[in-house]
Amino acid sequence: MASSHSWTLASLPLLLALTGLSAGKPSPSDWDALNQAVQGRLFQGVPFARPCFAEGFNSTDCLAVRSSYVDEVARSNVASAYIQTQWETCQTTAEGCLLSWTNPNDMSPTLPPNQCLLGSVPQYFIDVRNAQDVAEAFNFSRTTKMPLVIKNTGHDYKGRSSAPNSLALWTHNLKDISYTPAFVPEGCSAASPGVTVGAGVQWADAYAFAESNNITLVGGSDRSVGVSGGWLQGGGHSALSNTMGLGVDRVLQFKVVTPDGVYRTANACQNQDLFFALRGGGGGTFGVVLESTILASPPVTLQAVIVSFTSNTSTTQELWTILAENGLKWAEEGWGGFSQAGIAIMINPRLSQNETATSMAPLIEFGQRLQNEGVANASTVVTQFPTFGTFFNAFTAEHVSLVGTNMAEASRMVSKDNFATAADRSALVSALLAADAATPGLLILLTTPYSYPSDGQTSVTDAWRSSLYHVTVVSTWEWNATGAQKKAAYSAASASIDNLRKITPDAAYVNESDVYEPNHEVAFWGTHYAKLLQIKQKYDPDHLLDCWHCVGWDSTSPRFACYM
Ligand SMILES: Cc1cc2nc3c(=O)[nH]c(=O)nc-3n(C[C@H](O)[C@H](O)[C@H](O)COP(=O)(O)OP(=O)(O)OC[C@H]3O[C@@H](n4cnc5c(N)ncnc54)[C@H](O)[C@@H]3O)c2cc1C
Ligand SMILES: *[C@@H]1O[C@H](CO)[C@@H](O)[C@H](O)[C@H]1NC(C)=O
Ligand SMILES: *[C@@H]1O[C@H](CO)[C@@H](O)[C@H](O)[C@H]1NC(C)=O
Ligand SMILES: *[C@@H]1O[C@H](CO)[C@@H](O)[C@H](O)[C@H]1NC(C)=O
Ligand SMILES: *[C@@H]1O[C@H](CO)[C@@H](O)[C@H](O)[C@H]1NC(C)=O
Ligand SMILES: *[C@@H]1O[C@H](CO)[C@@H](O)[C@H](O)[C@H]1NC(C)=O
Ligand SMILES: *[C@@H]1O[C@H](CO)[C@@H](O)[C@H](O)[C@H]1NC(C)=O
Ligand SMILES: *[C@@H]1O[C@H](CO)[C@@H](O)[C@H](O)[C@H]1NC(C)=O
Repeated sequence: MASSHSWTLASLPLLLALTGLSAGKPSPSDWDALNQAVQGRLFQGVPFARPCFAEGFNSTDCLAVRSSYVDEVARSNVASAYIQTQWETCQTTAEGCLLSWTNPNDMSPTLPPNQCLLGSVPQYFIDVRNAQDVAEAFNFSRTTKMPLVIKNTGHDYKGRSSAPNSLALWTHNLKDISYTPAFVPEGCSAASPGVTVGAGVQWADAYAFAESNNITLVGGSDRSVGVSGGWLQGGGHSALSNTMGLGVDRVLQFKVVTPDGVYRTANACQNQDLFFALRGGGGGTFGVVLESTILASPPVTLQAVIVSFTSNTSTTQELWTILAENGLKWAEEGWGGFSQAGIAIMINPRLSQNETATSMAPLIEFGQRLQNEGVANASTVVTQFPTFGTFFNAFTAEHVSLVGTNMAEASRMVSKDNFATAADRSALVSALLAADAATPGLLILLTTPYSYPSDGQTSVTDAWRSSLYHVTVVSTWEWNATGAQKKAAYSAASASIDNLRKITPDAAYVNESDVYEPNHEVAFWGTHYAKLLQIKQKYDPDHLLDCWHCVGWDSTSPRFACYM
């Protein structure tokens, strides 16, 4: 499966030996000097579940870990905790410190011979507060060869915010947020309303801020994903993206420390190459963003239609057939949203209530028919939300993703061409059903910027704009899975999405893609890859920043020793 590299378990001891000789061995006095340079804000990585091993399973600290083990907000507040826990472990050596996500109150993971080991949790973290901290870290990495990673919330599906034997820049505490009704990017002249956020601001913070300032911010469906990190730099899709654009379409300015230690402003009027790269080229690649300014829009009234029911294959097929038959029309009319087996959530910032009744008639009639037939839990809600924030609060209360699990994800964009003829639509529905049967939990995200043209200065693949769906599948494994079981889970996610790969163009969203995405440069960046690679070489010639399948990555770096 790991076609792009060839390490095996057998070669690992050699690899680790080489690592020890060639890189990442700063002396205690090096660490002391770094700690002084960052005003004492250097600290050691400690696995999230360590108190359960070190202090007793019923200790106060362990009880706190057990009760928040699958809570994304709790995890995102802790430097060394990650949302998908395999990225806290070394998958190749099985070193780690996990509880059982299916039952965090099960004590057996903490009993001998199991140990609590650091795995892929960075050895040290810097609690970043300013550009000088980052410049010091770059200098330290350059002189000591200690690998650097950037950790914001730890949501990355591909493990790009952790690495074994590394130093992490933790951006979580950069929490400033401000609204400028007439924001002028530095060196430019045109003004637009903008919200400036520190790199640690998360969507829950930003949406609450938007509500209290009577504005709309276009963001993701998860409250604890970061606004400025991997989400924004990799694309940033939202249920509003169809009509209001991706995150990268709406960013007005970045402030970023590049690997030469210089704090730069990147916008349409200066450092334009860096601005282009940060608008879709991926996080963790070109520099450390300390703040971003994103476009604020007036509040939007949302029409919403939510149909849900306890599903079986035939009712799911009916639901997805209705979505496919109306896919192009609904995209053109401004609808966005989500669907899984047994549910569709559709929102629209453009239509009136009456227009909604007409536009959504096939879905509403389907939902009402299921109710009349007495289908279990069938419900049809046609309603209106005064703002995106009120919709988000209603929606997130009920729909929280898997957190604290070991999980592989794979995804695919579905082109408008897949909706062209009745035969295409039927093939699409069959592929969706086959993928969902292979790994239950398939999610259709109607979050592509289909109705929102590019300004020609973003680096995400152009396939985003000709696609109607972004589809994700997941596959999980237990805390004590064997290496073969982990590989089987990655293969299962990949094989599931193959059902769509067979009928779609080469496109996937970099932030939510298969860890082993085939042909990843084309899939993530399309025709923009060559230019992105040049920009990477210009700003990071020494590979101080490097991450899995990121632009210009060095796949032989020891930082990837834990990928299997
Ligand atoms: C439950 C869940 C829901 C999601 N929902 C959505 C969604 O609705 N829409 C969507 O588009 N995506 C969504 N995603 C995907 C999400 O965008 C990515 O996981 C993204 O990488 C998270 O970025 P982060 O900064 O929060 O996380 P991290 O894991 O901390 O960082 C991700 C990457 O960005 C880099 N990075 C972080 N901060 C910086 C910085 N300041 N400067 C430079 N690089 C940085 C890191 O090095 C890493 O490579 C979701 C993910 C999860 C797990
Ligand atoms: C922890 O507490 C539970 C109930 O409160 C008890 O059943 C269990 O034996 C305790 N475990 C340990 C290791 O003390
Ligand atoms: C860079 O790091 C080296 C060794 O870690 C240190 O001696 C030097 O003072 C640092 N330079 C700057 C400009 O911080
Ligand atoms: C919110 O903004 C809208 C349009 O920008 C305006 O019409 C409305 O009066 C504002 N509401 C409040 C409470 O300020
Ligand atoms: C909306 O529909 C209702 C009922 O069909 C009708 O009475 C009303 O006039 C319509 N409103 C508009 C603005 O068209
Ligand atoms: C699925 O559910 C529908 C509605 O309850 C029912 O009519 C149908 O028989 C079920 N199909 C299967 C295969 O169970
Ligand atoms: C209805 O939904 C609830 C909550 O998801 C679930 O526990 C229950 O089993 C469902 N009822 C049926 C008959 O499927
Ligand atoms: C994993 O641990 C669980 C208990 O948490 C146990 O029931 C199961 O048999 C173990 N599986 C393997 C493969 O060891």
